[in-house]
Amino acid sequence: MARERRLDILGIAASARKDSTSGAALDVVLARAAELGCRTRVIRLAEVRLPFCDGDKTAPWPEYPAVAELRRSVSLAHGVVLATPEYHGGMSGALKNALDLLDIPHARGKVFAGISALGGRSNSNALNQLRTSVRWLHGWMLPDQVAIPDARAAHAGGRFHDPEVTGRLTQLADELTHAARALALNTAPVPPQGGPDA
Ligand SMILES: Cc1cc2nc3c(=O)[nH]c(=O)nc-3n(C[C@H](O)[C@H](O)[C@H](O)COP(=O)(O)O)c2cc1C
Repeated sequence: MARERRLDILGIAASARKDSTSGAALDVVLARAAELGCRTRVIRLAEVRLPFCDGDKTAPWPEYPAVAELRRSVSLAHGVVLATPEYHGGMSGALKNALDLLDIPHARGKVFAGISALGGRSNSNALNQLRTSVRWLHGWMLPDQVAIPDARAAHAGGRFHDPEVTGRLTQLADELTHAARALALNTAPVPPQGGPDA
């Protein structure tokens, strides 16, 4: 009997804040994915040295090995979880820059999921931006997403006070692994083509 291949799930944590809420939420999703048998890994953008994208999204950046590592990690993943703080009504600049250092061949055919943490009330501004960027990279964004309001009060020591938040993060991991298994695990890579112009 053929053995089922393992899913690789990558998390990208955008916040540099100590005790980051979006980072803690990402950990919940990755822990659930591991429970479901996935191989997981995380890139915390605050811990890697990335250059500002200079307009050439394919530049090799030999003096910044983290660029090749980021591209390799996304290329090898079947699913990618993007976790961002909401900054001035959008995703963090660090995450947008990291996405700008990627190109379609890295992200094409992978399933993406988005999490945002907000100081104020819940909204989908950062999540909608993630959705747009992922679409431009030819990734598949899950319909499901999680925005965590009042973020600084939402958790302690990585545990969320509201069980509904934990439940939604767990569900996000379930949806991601389900979609990644269906879409990314069993399909041959699509040959690279031009980007979406419209
Ligand atoms: C530069 C900056 C801009 C922010 N803009 C918003 C905002 O537009 N809406 C909001 O609800 N919170 C905003 N916040 C609060 C953060 O979203 C909040 O602190 C959240 O916890 C960040 O996630 P983290 O814990 O993962 O870092 C902002 C914080 C900073 C530092």
